[in-house]
Amino acid sequence: MNIRTFLADRVRSAMSDVGIPNDYSPHLAASKKAGFGDYQANGAMAAAKAMKTNPRELAQSIANSLDLSGVASKVEIAGPGFINIHLDKQWLSNKLATSCESPQLDVSQKPQQQTVVIDYSSPNLAKEMHVGHLRSTIIGDAVARVLEFTGDKVIRQNHVGDWGTQFGMLIAELETQLTHGEQAELALKDLEGFYQKAKAHFDEDAAFANRARDYVVKLQSGDANVLKLWQQFKNVSLLHSEEIYKKLNVTLTAESVYGESAYNDDLAPVVADLREKSLVVEDEGAQVAFLQELADKNGEPSPVIVQKKDGGFLYATTDLAALRYRANSLNADRVLYFIDARQSLHMQQVFTLARKAEFVSEWMSLEHHPFGTMMGADGKPFKTRSGGTVKLADLLEEAVERAAVVVSQKNPDLTAEEMTEVARKVGIGAVKYADLSKTRTNDYIFNWDTMLSFEGNTGPYLQYAYTRIKSIFRKANLEMDSFNAELLIKMDQEKALALKTLQFSEVIEQVAEEAFPHILCTYLYDLASLFMTFYEACPILKPDVEPDTRESRLMLSKATALTLQTGLDLLGIEVMERM
Ligand code: ARG
Repeated sequence: MNIRTFLADRVRSAMSDVGIPNDYSPHLAASKKAGFGDYQANGAMAAAKAMKTNPRELAQSIANSLDLSGVASKVEIAGPGFINIHLDKQWLSNKLATSCESPQLDVSQKPQQQTVVIDYSSPNLAKEMHVGHLRSTIIGDAVARVLEFTGDKVIRQNHVGDWGTQFGMLIAELETQLTHGEQAELALKDLEGFYQKAKAHFDEDAAFANRARDYVVKLQSGDANVLKLWQQFKNVSLLHSEEIYKKLNVTLTAESVYGESAYNDDLAPVVADLREKSLVVEDEGAQVAFLQELADKNGEPSPVIVQKKDGGFLYATTDLAALRYRANSLNADRVLYFIDARQSLHMQQVFTLARKAEFVSEWMSLEHHPFGTMMGADGKPFKTRSGGTVKLADLLEEAVERAAVVVSQKNPDLTAEEMTEVARKVGIGAVKYADLSKTRTNDYIFNWDTMLSFEGNTGPYLQYAYTRIKSIFRKANLEMDSFNAELLIKMDQEKALALKTLQFSEVIEQVAEEAFPHILCTYLYDLASLFMTFYEACPILKPDVEPDTRESRLMLSKATALTLQTGLDLLGIEVMERM
């Protein structure tokens, strides 16, 4: 159990001992300022107000019946009725020692495992992945890892765009190229160029355009030949994405792909069902739901088209079908969507309509976790110099190249082999960390120099902190993984570091609930900074350090390294032995 929950339970029971009703919270939080203890319970004030008693006196009587022997070295009342808790160094030592024994560290498994469907990345297969897909892919992946770590059953759903009218054009183009003796893999090597060619043919060649339209119809009616071409196209395009996922160290695989096409047969039944439940009406030939729940400020209901006049279905129809599948076939307790903030209205419409239609149960949690846009230095959405979209593959290649320059300046002694590995991990880690460390809902400015800096809240800084600890162990001729010694926390810097290390579990629980990875980043940055402070104040390998103290400090360093490594791994960022 994490320290905060543990203390909150103790305070709650002391509160109930002094007659405070159970619905009053202890309001327990880590203290923000030095001198106010390690944790503060601020619940006495609200309780006193309701019970019309003196808050300071109430706080004192709570403190008197608070049993923290062996846990806290001091409990004191401050200000109008804060209860400040100073944790005992020996207790922290023991707790940290136990935490280091498990790969889970101090993070407990949820008492109730949930099935969580996470919809992320989800690129359109007609084109290559571009920077616009970066945020969904890496934020979604970090949250998937965190939820899995806390014991949830996570089902990754890559809701790829593999259906729709543009596929008629692409299939017609592929057919043309194949009949000219081209191989599908080669023809589609440059997916972007292929798309441009198809588009040009479609715009300039009327016969081609007719064929493309015909193929859309044939695709929808399941024509074997057209389906085969479509499948070929899809396979090659998915290989492009999988390559990116591998480069990005993202856990999406071929098994996570469940694209729009998978719902094709469900679309007509979804609309029929909505009609039956009188949730849609015919409006100018189209089937439309008018949602009063999402009315604009003039009271006009929000319209959602689920079927066009020509019979075609829409993006929203597919998402409704997907929700039904996620509820009924995947048995999801929670469904998380990592999609750009610009699709917020769409998601709200889908959620509202799905609930009204009872496609999902009342208790199922539907969550859109939106994010802002990645901007260039000019404050406009990130583009190439000539104003084009930046391919994700190119961006990642540049990241690794730039990291190689930075790393070779910092450490010219790495072997060529080490250099390749370090540049890859630092470059990719820097791009991911720069994104993950920003509050998800804001836009942010993409900047190579700041993200690759070894100072500040950056990926390289955290990777470097980890290698620093590794190098202490190398200097001591010790293997960190098997190292074990008694923790004897004495100095304040040691205590601060031990406490921070143990707060990992509180942070992970928060990220699992709120899906904001930057909270984990901020925590890791604070942890690494506290390590540096500790390292300056508390020498480890200097000859005049007592053996017991040295061993304890090595153990504390190991705990820090394990926490950094685990935390970075949950963000999908790799560490290395040296850099
Ligand atoms: N393919 C969509 C796009 O590129 C994103 C899909 C997100 N997922 C969803 N279930 N709508 O905009």
